[in-house]
Formats: sequence, C-alpha cells, structure tokens
Amino acid sequence: MHPTHAPNTPSDLTAKLHRSQSAPQLTPDGKLCHFLSVEGLNKDILTQIIHKAGGYLLPNGQIQNSTELDGCTVMNLFFENSTRTRTTFEVAEKRLGANVLNLDIAKSSTSKGESLADTLWNLQAMTADMFVVRHYSSGAMHFMAQKVCPSVAVINAGDGQHAHPTQAMLDMLTIHREAKKPFDELKVAIIGDVKHSRVARSDICALQTLGVKDLRVVAPKTLLPKGIERYGVSVFNDMDKGIAGVDVLIGLRIQNERIGSPLLPSTAEYFKMYGITDKRLKLADKDAIVMHPGPMNRGVEIASDVADGEQSVILKQVNNGIAVRMAVMAMAMEGQRSLRN
Ligand code: NCD
Repeated sequence: MHPTHAPNTPSDLTAKLHRSQSAPQLTPDGKLCHFLSVEGLNKDILTQIIHKAGGYLLPNGQIQNSTELDGCTVMNLFFENSTRTRTTFEVAEKRLGANVLNLDIAKSSTSKGESLADTLWNLQAMTADMFVVRHYSSGAMHFMAQKVCPSVAVINAGDGQHAHPTQAMLDMLTIHREAKKPFDELKVAIIGDVKHSRVARSDICALQTLGVKDLRVVAPKTLLPKGIERYGVSVFNDMDKGIAGVDVLIGLRIQNERIGSPLLPSTAEYFKMYGITDKRLKLADKDAIVMHPGPMNRGVEIASDVADGEQSVILKQVNNGIAVRMAVMAMAMEGQRSLRN
C-alpha cells in the first residue's frame, strides 16, 4: 500500500482528490480503461504494459504501426508545458491510427474562466473517445475520469506533483530492456528533487510493484518529502554512499517552477554534492545505466559527458515513451470497448 501524496495546490480539486483516489482505472474484469496512476495496478498489469509496448519496438529501433485506435478521436489537453510527453503522445496516437486534436489551452475558454468539467463536457460533445491530459493540479485526472462519459478514456500525462504514470512505465520498459538483471535483483537509486517530482512518486510505486527490493532515494534533506521512509525506500543524503553498487541511476531535474523559496545554496554547490559525474558513476555497478526523464539541466544534476556517454539510456527512454504510450492507449481503448459490450 502506497501512501497518498499531498496535492500541491489548494483548489476545488484538492478536496475531491481523496474521494476520487478510487476513480476506477480498471473494468470489473480487471482490464485497464483509464490510466490515471501506477498506484492500484498490480504486477500483472504493469508487466502486460511492458510486454505490449515491447511488441511495438522493432529490432532496428523503429516502431511498428497498428490500427488499434482506427476511427477514434484523441484529444490532447496540456494545461502545463511539455516537449517529450506531448510530442511522443501525439506520435503514438498517429501510429495507432487515431484522429488527433491538440487543444491550445492558452487560446481556449479555460483562459476565460470556464471550469475544467465544462471544458471536458464540451469537448466530449465533439465526439472524443480519449483525453490525454497534463494538469498542474494533483488529482485532476481522477476528477476528470469521474466526470467523463462512461465510454471515454482518460490518460494521465502528469498531474501536479502527484503522478506521471506513462513516464514511470517508459522508465520500466527501459530498465527491462537495458539493465542486465531482473527487477527483483536490481539496486536502483533515484537522485535529486524527489520532493517536487511526480516522476519519482510514480517510479517508486512501479519499481516496488515490479519487485525491486533495494530502492534508494539520494538527495539533500530539503529536496526530500517529509515521511519519505514510509514509502519503503532507503534514504541517503550522501551521494557517494547512495549510488555505491547500483544498477540503475535515475537523475531528476530540480523543479524550480514548483519551489517557492530557494532550497539550495547554489547550483554549482548542488552539482558538486549531487551531480552525476563520470567519476561518481564509477562507484555504481560497472554495467549501471543512467536515466533522466528530461528536461535535463547539464552541469546541475548531470554532467554532459555522462548524459551523452555510453551508459546513458536517456534517448532510448524517449523512444520507448512512444511504445509505452501506444500500449497504454490501446489497452485503455480496448477496456472501454469491453465496457460498451
Ligand atoms: C517530467 C515532468 O514533466 O514531470 N518530464 C517529462 O515528463 N519528460 C520531469 C520534469 O519536468 O523534470
């Protein structure tokens, strides 16, 4: 059981978060019909996602097209900036044969004060089959999943500090393909701004569900959420000790946009203490892989020679993101179809 995360912004969504945590993402017979968070999904479903995504990846690194979303309309609603996630979702939707519509939030009626539910209902009336949503409020996706018509799927592309489940699953696919050991034998270190990171929260949950026992978070105290020990991870404030012998290093960006007051003396000081450098990487297992969800701040959380080095799988993560997003959307649509019948 993973603890509920505190929402980041006081809003009407906050109060609804707790009761909407149970917004069902599974059909009564256990099929995915929304993809809201990794929490609540068992090892079987996560493994199904990994295998289905792996099936789209061709040996030459290309991605296999499919017709699983033929005739479906997918609307991308990004209330927050995004490069990788938004683009790879759109590529994935097109590769599945969907009709794709990108709502320009800045030019939409949301900026005139329309509520999220009203925006949603209007878009639904334009025959949407699936919403892919990124929102600055934690819990927004659970709220939306409760508001949409029964046959419409909601896919979480990142909500506040709460969850980023497709990022977690592309990370799991990357680890499955690139690390040299099965999940239950891996030592994994998540390094950096865990406190403000939805990626860290979803990664921790996915890694534990898939059987990782040695899971570490490495950060200064100011970048760790209170009560992090409750998640069943080992906490390290000393980087060299934290990454000793690990098989996977996941670097995180300092989420300056979510930090009100300065939590760090300086970025140069941070890099000295917590930067993933070539010298430090030697403390990890010799086959260790280096991951980062992007956007990367070179010279802050990671040195350029590591980011571009042989142990880096950062660009593979991006490519795997297309396959994982295809898998999740195809599975959720299939689940919705089974509910209609
Ligand atoms: C992450 C996000 O937006 O949460 N990036 C991503 O989706 N590729 C991490 C970040 O912004 O640092």
